[in-house]
Amino acid sequence: MTQGPLTTEAGAPVADNQNSETAGPGGPVLVQDQALLEKLAHFNRERIPERVVHARGAGAYGTFTLTRDVSRWTRAKFLSEVGKQTETFLRFSTVAGNLGSADAARDPRGWALKFYTEEGNYDLVGNNTPVFFIRDAIKFPDFIHTQKRDPYTGSQEADNVWDFWGLSPESTHQVTWLFGDRGIPASYRHMDGFGSHTFQWNNEAGEVFWVKYHFKTDQGIKNLTAEEAVRLSGVDPDSHQRDLRESIERGEFPSWTVQVQIMPAAEAATYRFNPFDLTKVWPHADYPPIEIGRLELNRNPENVFAEVEQSIFSPAHFVPGIGPSPDKMLQGRLFAYGDAHRYRVGINADHLPVNRPHATEARTHSRDGHLYDGRHKGAKNYEPNSFGGPVQTGRPLWEPVPVTGGTGNHVTPLHPEDDDFVQAGNLYRLMSENEKVRLIDNLAGFISQVSRDDIAERAVGNFRQADEDFGKRLEAAVQALRGR
Ligand code: HEM
Repeated sequence: MTQGPLTTEAGAPVADNQNSETAGPGGPVLVQDQALLEKLAHFNRERIPERVVHARGAGAYGTFTLTRDVSRWTRAKFLSEVGKQTETFLRFSTVAGNLGSADAARDPRGWALKFYTEEGNYDLVGNNTPVFFIRDAIKFPDFIHTQKRDPYTGSQEADNVWDFWGLSPESTHQVTWLFGDRGIPASYRHMDGFGSHTFQWNNEAGEVFWVKYHFKTDQGIKNLTAEEAVRLSGVDPDSHQRDLRESIERGEFPSWTVQVQIMPAAEAATYRFNPFDLTKVWPHADYPPIEIGRLELNRNPENVFAEVEQSIFSPAHFVPGIGPSPDKMLQGRLFAYGDAHRYRVGINADHLPVNRPHATEARTHSRDGHLYDGRHKGAKNYEPNSFGGPVQTGRPLWEPVPVTGGTGNHVTPLHPEDDDFVQAGNLYRLMSENEKVRLIDNLAGFISQVSRDDIAERAVGNFRQADEDFGKRLEAAVQALRGR
């Protein structure tokens, strides 16, 4: 900030910032005290709406370095040469808590990563889990309502959570993951990240591949037990945010090894699981992860509100060579985020320093709106024009995807080995005995809080379908806690 006296927003010097202007020493305050009125009015407008989900978070800038030639799968320029570096901004978050909530919650962690590429910003808006609770965007608002505060009690209610999960058996895989050891990471640095959805990569020749992204933490996985998390939430609610900032301040830059799973387009139709179902993983034995790069976080934001609260990420922000898949959840998200940004930050949100492209510039004919900064100066605001404005390229970012059948509210198609429980059961059977004990304790502790037996029984029934032993032990644990 430049030197000089304190001023009003209009730059005029302020004479007194301790005493407001009154009619005589003991009299009422005068309307002509504009420094006071402006200060109070500005204060009243400090908050913007918090994110409807993922409100609580922290972010940092970093660098992505490509370590493997992937040009046979994608023509994205930032993925074109081994050794190439791209600036990034990553915002971590929890999902359900409000802006001031404690970091050490049992909740998925958001993983919103912006690549500032020379072909525009590419956003990968994932989580620290490879799967999700539901597979159709139409269920998302209902799902989130059950995670947030009840309209009557104003608190999160076990009844709502388990009622919804019990009636949405496709959630069984993600819920098993969430109540296992990885459900409460020790910090944002000690967890993996995932793009979660399947995305399209396409190469120069127009060939299509389906891809899943994995970011494996180089710090090692570290988690909190339920008891440790309760304690930490009390003594240091900002534990994850503080850990991230302080480690970067110390010069200990957290990093992740970036991997992809690649499926040639022709294999999707006959794969044993529906490859566009977000409640499923592609087992590594089917599509082994391939290491392609390294992500390092190395710079803290200077201003949390400007750079973290006002940061925006959209699954619809693609670059040439990368596109969406037919995953119904992803398709819903392509709409939801831009809409949220226009409401939460405003129509010119894309042009704030953290959000605008850093390695190229935005060239559109859209103009004006709330807080427009005049960046287009006198350039024409229509197209086609005869004045040399920007024009279309003629090549879509992604390749066409063949479709069949009539329109309709279709259920997501099942592939030969698909059901809602198979991968949840596999995950349970992979766990050590101690992990199983903790998983069942965590689940039973929460399920036992519901007010109705039918809700508890239906919830337990889903885990029984995943694995007989899982269901039996959980049922016994819930009954013991409910005193029957
Ligand atoms: C159809 C389902 C979904 C809908 C409608 C939805 C909607 C939203 C909305 C409206 C926001 C707030 C955006 C903002 O105000 O800037 C948000 C944030 C977020 N969502 Fe989703 N979401 C969905 C599913 C998912 C899934 C499956 C994932 C991860 C795999 C995910 C990850 C995130 C993350 C990481 C953020 C925080 C972004 C940030 O840091 O600014 N969401 N979501």
